[in-house]
Amino acid sequence: MLMTDVIRRKRDGGRLDADTIREVIQGVTTGAVPDYQVAALLMAIYFQGLDGGELAVWTDTMLRSGDVFDLSDIPGPKVDKHSTGGVGDKISIPLAPLVAACGVRVPMISGRGLGHTGGTLDKLESMPGFRTDLSPERFIQGVREVGVCLIGQTERIVPADRRLYALRDVTGTVESIPLIAASILSKKLAEGISGLVLDVKMGSGAFMKTPDRARQLAETLVDLGERSGVRTVACLTDMDDPIGWAVGNALEIEETLEVLQGAGPEDTVELVEVLGGQMLLLGGVVADGEEGARRIRAARFDGSGLEVFRRMVAFQGGDPRLVDDPGRLPRARFQKEVPAEAEGVVESVDCEAVGMAALVLGGGRRRKEDPVDPAVGLRIRVHRGDRVRPGEPLATLCYNDPARVPEAEGRLRGAWRLGPGPVDRRPRLVGLAGRPPNGMPHPGGQEKTP
Ligand code: URA
Repeated sequence: MLMTDVIRRKRDGGRLDADTIREVIQGVTTGAVPDYQVAALLMAIYFQGLDGGELAVWTDTMLRSGDVFDLSDIPGPKVDKHSTGGVGDKISIPLAPLVAACGVRVPMISGRGLGHTGGTLDKLESMPGFRTDLSPERFIQGVREVGVCLIGQTERIVPADRRLYALRDVTGTVESIPLIAASILSKKLAEGISGLVLDVKMGSGAFMKTPDRARQLAETLVDLGERSGVRTVACLTDMDDPIGWAVGNALEIEETLEVLQGAGPEDTVELVEVLGGQMLLLGGVVADGEEGARRIRAARFDGSGLEVFRRMVAFQGGDPRLVDDPGRLPRARFQKEVPAEAEGVVESVDCEAVGMAALVLGGGRRRKEDPVDPAVGLRIRVHRGDRVRPGEPLATLCYNDPARVPEAEGRLRGAWRLGPGPVDRRPRLVGLAGRPPNGMPHPGGQEKTP
């Protein structure tokens, strides 16, 4: 294979055959193909795309560049969920134990926060002692015995993605939909799952800012998942308002506990029940997404989800007493309210600004190697559709380092866009993409258009 021929073919809109793609990805993994040629090919793909067949081979070869979990010894369905990243997006944490409590195992490999979106691993690690760096054997044991285990990416899972992502990051090619789809799915498919529910976020706090781009990504992900032999559904959800009341690591665990105890904010609960319902559907334990959502709701109220969460915390080295005593979670020393400057109804909230304010307080990282402060963040006091008067709180900053507050406040200036109202309180779920499992009705009933 001559790499210059491959680059030219893609540059001119041609198709790459399977052997060529395998050779390229192997060369990416071993380092045989130099950075400048990988970068040129990525740019050609950015402009010309990959068709469904090319993308399936590209993703499969990426997936096989490292360790792949074999969970076939564990009976029953194994279904995971992935979110493209939001602000206040703690959904995986209550969702995974609830789904496990309903009889579908959840092997979940998650990421850390980078930029304005938080990371599930950072949230989990805000629980004292909780470990996300379990060995593969211990991960499998957790999935088998507890029904759920949440760990972090390792060096040995999809090494091809590390190199490709690092090059995309510095060559302006991160935004390519096929490259995003391959990156996300190669890592999820390495978990050995039989089903996958994707939460594709759209709006000011999302990776995909417009409904068109979000739907395109959702459809590409579903097609790729199905071609790879994994039942896949994507939910398109709104990210023009932070999710729930908590943005910050330990704060989001507190909100998780509320959800698992049958309470919690309406929008967080909606996302947990909708996504959980789809996971149960893909796991084959319910007939449709609505029945699945009802089962998840029942597991929130009967304490079975909370019990799985307690066992998961204990299995992963955390202190299960925090389940009944959230006071054991790290707490910030100081609080300060962010007041409204005018009267009006909240039309939307700039989620990126809110996420960046949490980061500035120390809850997130600007660079991969930065430490995070588990205790800090924001309590969101008003959401879209709420009316505020001057001086009333929009949010409460929870912080340990007063020197960080002015920048956080600056980021939040104008983040709550107020209008005369009234403003519709839209549901979070905007639409679904995915083929119904064998002969079953469409996952969520009616398809909606953004
Ligand atoms: N998340 C990933 O894992 N990869 C991407 O390319 C984008 C988001």
